[in-house]
Amino acid sequence: MTAAELRQKYLDFFKEKGHAVIPSASIVPQNDPTVLFTTAGMQPLIPFLSGNPHPMGSRLVSAQKCLRTDDIEEVGDNRHLTFFEMLGNWSLGDYFKPEAITWAFEFLTDKKWLGLDPKKIYVTVFEGDEDAIRDEESIGIWQSLFEIQGIAAEIGVVNQDEPTQDVNGARIYAYPKKKNWWPGATMKGLCGPDTEIFYDTGKAHQPGFDKVCNPNCDCGRFVEIWNNVFMQFNRLSEGGALEELPSKNVDTGMGLERMVAMLNGNETVFETPEFEVIISAIEQVSHKKYHDTKRAFRIIADHIRASTFVIGDPHGVVPSNIGQGYIVRRLLRRAIREGHRLGLTDPFLAKIAAVIIGQYGTHYTELETNRSHIVGELQKEEDKFAKTIEKGTKEFEKMANMGTITGEQAFMLFSTYGFPIELTEEMLRERGSSIDREVFAAEFKKHQELSRTASAGMFKGGLADHSIESTRLHTATHLLHRALKNILGEHVEQKGSNITSERLRFDFSHPEKLTPEQIKRVEDMVNAVIDQDLPVHSKEMTVAEAKMHGAIGLFEEKYGDKVKVYFIGNEITDFSKEICGGPHVTHTGDLGKFKIQKEEAVSAGIRRIKASVSGR
Ligand code: SER
Repeated sequence: MTAAELRQKYLDFFKEKGHAVIPSASIVPQNDPTVLFTTAGMQPLIPFLSGNPHPMGSRLVSAQKCLRTDDIEEVGDNRHLTFFEMLGNWSLGDYFKPEAITWAFEFLTDKKWLGLDPKKIYVTVFEGDEDAIRDEESIGIWQSLFEIQGIAAEIGVVNQDEPTQDVNGARIYAYPKKKNWWPGATMKGLCGPDTEIFYDTGKAHQPGFDKVCNPNCDCGRFVEIWNNVFMQFNRLSEGGALEELPSKNVDTGMGLERMVAMLNGNETVFETPEFEVIISAIEQVSHKKYHDTKRAFRIIADHIRASTFVIGDPHGVVPSNIGQGYIVRRLLRRAIREGHRLGLTDPFLAKIAAVIIGQYGTHYTELETNRSHIVGELQKEEDKFAKTIEKGTKEFEKMANMGTITGEQAFMLFSTYGFPIELTEEMLRERGSSIDREVFAAEFKKHQELSRTASAGMFKGGLADHSIESTRLHTATHLLHRALKNILGEHVEQKGSNITSERLRFDFSHPEKLTPEQIKRVEDMVNAVIDQDLPVHSKEMTVAEAKMHGAIGLFEEKYGDKVKVYFIGNEITDFSKEICGGPHVTHTGDLGKFKIQKEEAVSAGIRRIKASVSGR
């Protein structure tokens, strides 16, 4: 099955069930400054999920162009993509769980549609906690659907802390909020339990993962194919109480590429029909074989595909040094570098883009309409980058002719000429030399520190050492900073930070003593984020971009300087975004329990908090 066929089947199925087919919204969100790109099908529908009537009715279905840029560096492995299409159907206060679940099962298993073997379908539901009850309704619906098929619908409860518990034989698995609640366990706004649908690939369970295989085990046996979110609540404030919505919504999402791969039994999304055509075009221009250099092929295919969609969007952006344009530049330059690795010296972006437009232009007609614009921008960017490389190479040669290239010089090539460090390395290797990575890294760090602390010493992390204890407390400081702003107000600003291996000390602007109730709320909020075990990751960006992301920190640096921004959050929203040099833990769960030990005055209008974490 091709992606085009699956997309059409999905839209047709829900059309039969009374849904209006809505066109994909722009991949560059309009009127939403909180995100650079559309990352989920529901994102453009947020105003309507919040109660505004949608002009096309209360049952909607779409295939939405999405771009997730958090994992750019991961692309090249067997599953990451930046651009993808999300299939989704929505009920805006119309149908609810019985219809949503029954139709999902029908679409997947009915011979008229996908005809999957129902025995290979496994599902997960929300197990319930003190905040919201167990999703008995979904469990009941799934049980009767499986029973009609003659499949025993045993319920398994997987306690994440006790993976030895035997859940073999179960069909419906109950998990806590971390897995089956959307968008996040304590996040403010529309939310609710979800039921996720998994497909059993039949692969053997791999050791080194959960002791007993279950749908959420990452060994590769189960593939998640569809998420059905039941937006039945509104959380009044971060970590606050739930309010039942008078009008309940359904929001579902299915990753198109992954589903096609699964239906075809393809090993990865890169072997699906549309990608095969793109990959074979890259084989033709490079005279290399995909099977010998999968990583480079995957990066080139993904990055040119993503850029084609972003440039070709009705609200498209072109490569530049800021915001979305910077992401496109990064994607294209990364594709070009991988092309070099395959020996491609002549321009090739436009050739591959033409094939991509051929694959997707029938459905996404904007790609055809904007064909010459897309091709022109790709050629311009390739040309610009070639000039950068040419200039950098000349400088490299000047330096190399005077002796070996030092780590400082390599850094200069990178910072002043934009010359990729990988190329310096490659060219040195050709001369039987190598880069002094340590000096380069030290220069890099110095540069970051300089740009971060350009105007004020107070923004230094104040980290005594890089031990795990200090690192945990450093991440806790970011959470504390954000929680204080959320609870006390945006006037809260960092005035100082000092961390030892025992405690953090955080000074901030606030006119009065915190009440015991405020202290408790701050603690609870930080602990809620810790409980969600949110990933922490960083991105290098320009100051302008950091501003666009709404990162907190100092913005005194001169325009064009690069800063590092640490994000703590899931793929939809970030709890905290802060300019910082690190280091940080990779997941908030590592912090253990957060406790405020002391709150006192430092001077007029400045308060000080000392706090600790217990560690995991
Ligand atoms: N919003 C949910 C998701 O992105 C379902 O569409 O998974």
